[in-house]
Amino acid sequence: MNLKESIESVRNNFRTDSDPFPTDSKSIELLYVKYLGRKGLVSDLFSQLINVSNKERPSIGKNLNQLKKEITNSFKIVDRSSSNIDSIEEDYTLPGLSFPTGYIHPLQQTMNEIKTIFMNVGFSIAYGPEIDDDFHNFGALNFPPEHPARDMQDTFFIDPDTVLRTHTSNVQIHLMENEEPPLRYIVPGRVYRNEAISFKSYCLFHQVEGIYVDKNVSFADHKGILEFFVKRMFGEQTKMRFRPSFFPFTEPSAEVDIWSEKSGQWLEILGSGMVDPEVFKSVNIDPDIWQGFAFGMGIERICMLKYEIDDIRLLYQGDMRFLEQF
Ligand code: PHE
Repeated sequence: MNLKESIESVRNNFRTDSDPFPTDSKSIELLYVKYLGRKGLVSDLFSQLINVSNKERPSIGKNLNQLKKEITNSFKIVDRSSSNIDSIEEDYTLPGLSFPTGYIHPLQQTMNEIKTIFMNVGFSIAYGPEIDDDFHNFGALNFPPEHPARDMQDTFFIDPDTVLRTHTSNVQIHLMENEEPPLRYIVPGRVYRNEAISFKSYCLFHQVEGIYVDKNVSFADHKGILEFFVKRMFGEQTKMRFRPSFFPFTEPSAEVDIWSEKSGQWLEILGSGMVDPEVFKSVNIDPDIWQGFAFGMGIERICMLKYEIDDIRLLYQGDMRFLEQF
């Protein structure tokens, strides 16, 4: 049999072998190896090409290429047919399908860390209303009637006496109205401010408020707790400072800064101070018996510092490519 005849014979054999085309993966593989494998029939035909005269080689070569293509194609068609899908379903050694899982949002992670740190030193968690009256958000906190924070620029008013709370300090007032001291709470929650949206401010954000009321509470207790918090949150080596500040509801007041080695500057992380006696009076607590301190911090700000996020809006877009990094 010359090469030309051999090619014809392989072609006929393949047609017989592949009609009907096998449906299970094992037989498909055997068929493939028999014809297209490294030591298969087609490869064997190619190796015989050198024995053919120069004159005949182009036409026989062409014929052989055609045969190879024909056989290869019939496997491709089967690839797309259902028989192949069946065989995939039967292969129990394949790894299982994985389902996408979500991530804990970096804001929630930061909130959880803050909660855990304060719960370790005896604080409980409390929540309060996001829609509140002027008294709880401002009046009882010693904001004078003309204070600029009541201005339409900052506050979302629902009616002249009802606001979306601008800070979590409203919950201090609810807690002190409802419970007898001593009190030791932290209050996470959303707050709202009518600010222009940019990389550093958003119309809503989150705060954690802290309130500690007891007998004989001093400014040193307040410093001690906040120092404990900062070292736990940002690391033992973190440099921090208390800077005198002003809030209507604390006296004296301070802001806490931490030193950023990376940007070479102090960064403000929270506001705090001793509860103003005027605040105690508005909730009928006797300031001659009880003292306390309070603090409030923005979670977004702390989250952005901790995870080096440079645009607050990223925290509100729900983009998985961003969220899966945390
Ligand atoms: N409520 C203040 C703010 O939103 C933060 C604060 C809370 C300051 C408690 C002192 C004490 O900026």
